[in-house]
Amino acid sequence: MDKIILTGDRPTGKLHVGHYIGSLKRRVELQNSGEFKKIFIMVADAQALTDNMENPEKVRQNIIEVVLDYLACGIDPKKSNIFIQSMVPELTELAFYYMNLVTVSRLQRNPTVKAEIGLRNFENSIPVGFFTYPISQASDITAFKATTVPVGEDQLPMIEQTREIVRKFNSVYGETLVEPEALIPKEDAAKRLPGTDGKAKMSKSLGNCIYLSDDADTVASAIKTMYTDPLHIKVSDPGHLEGNTVFTYLDAFSRPEHFAEYLPDYNSLYELKEHYTRGGLGDMKVKKFLASIMEETLAPIRARRAEFEKDIPAIYEMLKESCEVARNEAANTLSEVKNAMRINYFDDVELIKSQAERFHNK
Ligand code: TRP
Repeated sequence: MDKIILTGDRPTGKLHVGHYIGSLKRRVELQNSGEFKKIFIMVADAQALTDNMENPEKVRQNIIEVVLDYLACGIDPKKSNIFIQSMVPELTELAFYYMNLVTVSRLQRNPTVKAEIGLRNFENSIPVGFFTYPISQASDITAFKATTVPVGEDQLPMIEQTREIVRKFNSVYGETLVEPEALIPKEDAAKRLPGTDGKAKMSKSLGNCIYLSDDADTVASAIKTMYTDPLHIKVSDPGHLEGNTVFTYLDAFSRPEHFAEYLPDYNSLYELKEHYTRGGLGDMKVKKFLASIMEETLAPIRARRAEFEKDIPAIYEMLKESCEVARNEAANTLSEVKNAMRINYFDDVELIKSQAERFHNK
């Protein structure tokens, strides 16, 4: 049991059902598997600031939202250390040294950075901090000697970059850092849940998210207006599954036992899909089924969140303690890194002795 997890999220908004199915659910399973010696879950506020520097208040407000979402989903602070990135300044110091192991052209080739530069209209005005965030992410991971980084597929280039930094560091300064592995979602449906409007990405600005903290009515009406198949006009028309958001959500959230419970006319998702494509099955019926499943999934999360919301100061207290634990871990690694690089001048008796001799023999 020497496996260690580190993962995290940028606190730029509340977490939605895409986060749940793509990562939070898995994290809770991993947490409860007993397979990991340590688990660190980081609220990446410093990384969030790399493209929100003009709006630190947004980041500040969303830290607690993200932590509440974690707790609501079943992340247990006794088993998983939840900490805030900026409260561990050792991470920044590590990044400063790693920066010398990475070239500008390597960063420019990082597909995630490339895509995000386009998304944020950065083209020629990329903040340096944003450009180098893959290096800071390597610090986050290596500071905790993480072996395992559960992330979405979009983060694979970050892990690859981290692995390169580790190999480079170890080859120049000696075996010090641990090379991590990414753990990505198993099922396709969990990899990227579309927005309720069928658009590829859920985003606050598009208003197409279902948040973990949404109340039952909000979720129900979001499903009622969910994008399906524009060619499926009459119930008798044959329906299409490709790009049909309701079915994508069913792929992600439905389980065999849901049929007996909410839709006993069908035995499986396969049968339901078959009827839909044949014609004669209305969208409303499928949506109602999805709404029941989502409610079953979200109701316990919502209830737990409401409990945690009753004592916010206790959550900040928990975070403060976890940040200290995280800081200790990172400080240990930083001191190993500095020893390996021999920037440990005051701890190195040999250095002082040899310098004394050198000057003495002049
Ligand atoms: N980049 C991640 C995101 O966009 C957040 C993150 C920061 C992270 N540091 C990390 C994820 C280290 C995994 C490991 O959500």
